[in-house]
Amino acid sequence: MSDLIQGIDVCIAGTGSHVPEHILTNDELAMRVDTSDEWIVTRTGIRERRIAAEGEHTSHMATKAARIALEQAGIEAGEIDLIIVATITPDTLTPATACYVQQALGAHGAVAFDISAACSGFLYAMKISKRLISDGAFNNALIIGAEKLSAFVNWEDRATCVLFGDGAGAAVLRKAEPGEGSIIATEMGTDGRLTHLLSIPGGGSACPITIDNAAERHATLAMLGKEVFKHAVTRMKEAAERVIERAGLTPGDIACVIPHQANLRIIDAIADRLDMPNERVFVNLHKYGNTSAAAVAIALDEAARSGAFKRGDHIVLVVFGAGLTWAAAAIRW
Ligand code: COA
Repeated sequence: MSDLIQGIDVCIAGTGSHVPEHILTNDELAMRVDTSDEWIVTRTGIRERRIAAEGEHTSHMATKAARIALEQAGIEAGEIDLIIVATITPDTLTPATACYVQQALGAHGAVAFDISAACSGFLYAMKISKRLISDGAFNNALIIGAEKLSAFVNWEDRATCVLFGDGAGAAVLRKAEPGEGSIIATEMGTDGRLTHLLSIPGGGSACPITIDNAAERHATLAMLGKEVFKHAVTRMKEAAERVIERAGLTPGDIACVIPHQANLRIIDAIADRLDMPNERVFVNLHKYGNTSAAAVAIALDEAARSGAFKRGDHIVLVVFGAGLTWAAAAIRW
């Protein structure tokens, strides 16, 4: 699905991110399961990840990231019209994590809900809120990708436990003033024929966790890694190409590509296929691993603050996740 109608321009007025204090290194993981720092770094690029403390919920990380984004945007909590939290690790199945964030921020005038699109959730939220603002339904939106994946990882499965981490990233969107940047083109897609490649099979209504099945750990991430890898490269490359073309740009016009942070080999393969030099591709997965919906949001915040691009530059965000889902956005910063 792409942008067919162009309404009011929408810009990103502020970004923020928050990761838990506790660092879990590859060497520490190698003391728990049969793996090594060398294997993890060579196959994924990941060196360490952050793990939330026991009482630190997804909404807590989301709220911290949101406060930083709001401050940068110069918007008070009471002025927020819409809050969307993208997460597959909500505090509770209901109410939505966005409701806890609304409460913590005191954003009592906002409509708040969650979306579940795995690692693509932040860009799904961006497209939804961009459309609602450009249609005139809302003046602004706070979008957040936040995950506590450590609560849904099987810490005895070396094939998955080395990959994931916790964290949150946020952005404030609002109507753009003349001369400001804007979200130029967005793209999103889904292929429900591939639900079996990456899922948390238990804990929902299809497979509730009971006393009898609790030991089987159905409420943890299950993945066919090699298959996911292939689809990730193809879909992200296509989505990035589409938004670049629809924005009337070429890869050479893009100052920075910010891809989903899952695996350095996936990122390198996409950069290669887009003919994008490595120095124009932002990577922070060595510090955080794959934080699903939070990953591209944290990366956007870190890239913007590190000076990876400046006002007026064109950037591309591109993501991929369970579903399978994928999405991209071309933005003039
Ligand atoms: N440490 C050491 N060995 C490991 C290991 C680990 N943590 N995990 C798996 N292995 C072993 C396997 O058991 C296998 O051993 P075998 O050959 O004796 O059977 C071997 O390493 C190769 O495993 P394989 O799964 O083929 O490795 P791979 O090169 O495909 O890399 C992933 C595995 C998970 C890193 C890779 O497939 C991947 O990143 N896929 C995409 C995952 C992803 O990004 N998911 C999120 C999308 S949003």
